[in-house]
Amino acid sequence: MSSTRGKFNSRIGFILAAAGSAVGLGNIWGFPTQAAGNGGAAFVLMYLVLAFCLAYPAFMAELIIGRHGQANAVESLRKISTTAMQKRFAFIVGFGGILCAALLMSFYSIVAGWMLAFTAEPITTAVGANAASDWLTSQSTSRNIIFTLVFTVLTVYIISRGVENGIERWSKRLMPALVALLVSLTVYVLTLDGATDGLKAYLIPDISRLFEPDLIVSALGQAFFSLSLGTSVIIIYGSYVARNENLVSLSASVTLIDVFIAFLAGLLIIPAMYVAAAQGVEIFSADGSLKSGDTLVLTVLPALFDGMGSIGVFVGFAFFSLMSIASLTSSISMLEAPVSYTVERFNIERNKATIVIGSLIFATSCLIIFNFSTLFGFVIALTTQYGQPIIGMFCCIFVGWVWHRSSLLEELKAGNEQIEHQLFWKIWPWYTKLVCPTAIAIVFIHSL
Ligand code: PHE
Repeated sequence: MSSTRGKFNSRIGFILAAAGSAVGLGNIWGFPTQAAGNGGAAFVLMYLVLAFCLAYPAFMAELIIGRHGQANAVESLRKISTTAMQKRFAFIVGFGGILCAALLMSFYSIVAGWMLAFTAEPITTAVGANAASDWLTSQSTSRNIIFTLVFTVLTVYIISRGVENGIERWSKRLMPALVALLVSLTVYVLTLDGATDGLKAYLIPDISRLFEPDLIVSALGQAFFSLSLGTSVIIIYGSYVARNENLVSLSASVTLIDVFIAFLAGLLIIPAMYVAAAQGVEIFSADGSLKSGDTLVLTVLPALFDGMGSIGVFVGFAFFSLMSIASLTSSISMLEAPVSYTVERFNIERNKATIVIGSLIFATSCLIIFNFSTLFGFVIALTTQYGQPIIGMFCCIFVGWVWHRSSLLEELKAGNEQIEHQLFWKIWPWYTKLVCPTAIAIVFIHSL
């Protein structure tokens, strides 16, 4: 089977695909919302520390498991296991990650569907179709089903095309578009009245809040979600990386891009909130806390765009296109996790596997849509608060405790001959063995 496996054709192709997976609603929606609700700059500072000190080593662990295994997550974890018990455990962790990715996609595609609907809204407004605009921007089962379906079909289409023609090609097209849109919007918002107050809130930390346990828990969860950890996605992307690539610098590039885009998104959204406030949109309640945490992006920003007059139509369209693109490069990675497993395990054609799994995920999304008040929050908590940290922690345990050190070194040496004598090799194995699992466990237990 391995000779027919897909493979990223270029270093930049992999970096953009992995960064595409990492950069998504988590960066452009999650990060600014969490920063705004958790003390602004203090959260940003803690996030930066945790992303580089914990999420980056964990990302590296998942990537190297995949590169070594050259197979789906279950097989890759099995290859580094020796005893029967370890192999069983490998199945639980690998399959758990795949399930987590599929479940993530079931709620992610609902939210991404909202982004598509909000992208269409400026167009219906511009042509005066007000009833359509209302439908697009209000919660309804029909709107949610239709746009979730459209988004799922787009994802299925890209994944059915495979690694080079699907994931790599589309990531190379979509990621530069995303950065260009984000930078232009940020520059524009920073010229508006009120933006400076937003900048201050975002960039000047209140050090006294830095060590608040809730802030740390949120920052770590956010970092794990943002780097797509604990879902077997990075393992599978790692398995498509050529053996002569230097994984240390590859992981560092992806982490840097991910953090940079989250930071940039904060630079857009938080000043945009203050601009909206200056224009009379209520964003804070009487006690000074943020009014609509989760709906921030869907209420504050459209209000801001409306206030801009006719240019607001274009800005709104650009912003929500950006959100849709970012969601798409993430959802393709979520779908690739179960698809790659099914193709390799059951020897099924990629096209067929993609359609079957895409349909199952869409059915789950419908279940969530029909039971929105009970299931939506539940599935998000199950996957992001429990699934991702636990599975991410187990991947570190695999690298630190199960994988033979000499074999691990050999894998790292492919693509980086000198690694044995570098600081990375002196720190990272111990770090992954002890610090990462302990820190994740502490934060996880606290979050319970
Ligand atoms: N990292 C993506 C984001 O920030 C979400 C994601 C999580 C993608 C897990 C794949 C796997 O939106």
